[in-house]
Amino acid sequence: MDLCLNGKVAWVVGGSEGIGYECVRSLMAEGVRVAVSSRSETKMASASESIEKKLGKRPLTIQADASDHQKMQEVLCQIVKQLGRLDILIYVAGISNHGKLMDVEPETWRKNWELNVVSFFHAVRIVVPEIKKQVSGSIIVLGASSGKQPTPNQLISNTTKGSLIPMVKTLAGELAEYNIVINNVCPGRFLTPRRWHLAEREHEQRGISAEDYFHEVASTVPLKRLGEPEEIADFITFLTSSKASYITGQSISVDGGLVRSII
Ligand SMILES: NC(=O)c1ccc[n+]([C@@H]2O[C@H](COP(=O)([O-])OP(=O)(O)OC[C@H]3O[C@@H](n4cnc5c(N)ncnc54)[C@H](OP(=O)(O)O)[C@@H]3O)[C@@H](O)[C@H]2O)c1
Repeated sequence: MDLCLNGKVAWVVGGSEGIGYECVRSLMAEGVRVAVSSRSETKMASASESIEKKLGKRPLTIQADASDHQKMQEVLCQIVKQLGRLDILIYVAGISNHGKLMDVEPETWRKNWELNVVSFFHAVRIVVPEIKKQVSGSIIVLGASSGKQPTPNQLISNTTKGSLIPMVKTLAGELAEYNIVINNVCPGRFLTPRRWHLAEREHEQRGISAEDYFHEVASTVPLKRLGEPEEIADFITFLTSSKASYITGQSISVDGGLVRSII
């Protein structure tokens, strides 16, 4: 299937590793010109090198913390200057510190909301004036299965990612007049650097090996395995294409069957 993405320009916020990195690779494989922003120059350089080995071309990389709204505005200007336009935003950056009510420090709570929700709000405000110059556009945010089906001990993820569901539904109505679609893609349990950090934490707290931790997590998923980042990235690429042009305002699980809800 030709996704007709050739020549489009995408900005992946948080594309230096994990799911974001795979989104960059998948979009570039379809001929999209991609700009990546994240905090670490080192991680972006290594991501860029890896993509060049696979595809023979590099993304544009610009260092920026997604919580720095002034800097994010400057990134957009750089993208337009160097790539000429913007059609697609994929907002991947997110944190989810674990813990119950009394474990979560107010400052941690604030920082998680700031990155997962407030900075996404700002990113959309930054890109819409540029994307609406095109005939059509697409915005995607990475939510989480926990936003649909709360996970114990995950107060922050359950609430911040859950709030993206009404947000994209509302924005879909507002952005429709510009033919911009906006959707929330909700991962279940994926094998990314973040998962390895969780494995380290479980080893420190419970003494279990990474292998046992991954096995434990996989056993909660109907498909009995963790997802590979490319299994969600290729879906995201499809969702940004004209083949998915009638899908907007949706919060779509990519989770091996983890969320049991029927809506
Ligand atoms: N993996 C899962 O199983 C899972 C499950 C549910 C939801 N999710 C959601 O899916 C998204 C991606 O998850 P992942 O597992 O791929 O995460 P990851 O492995 O931790 O990668 C996160 C990416 O975001 C960037 N990033 C983090 N903070 C940032 C900031 N303040 N500004 C700019 N970039 C930032 C990181 O790069 P730098 O360090 O260079 O900034 C990195 O490229 C997240 O929103 C996460 O909440 C993942």
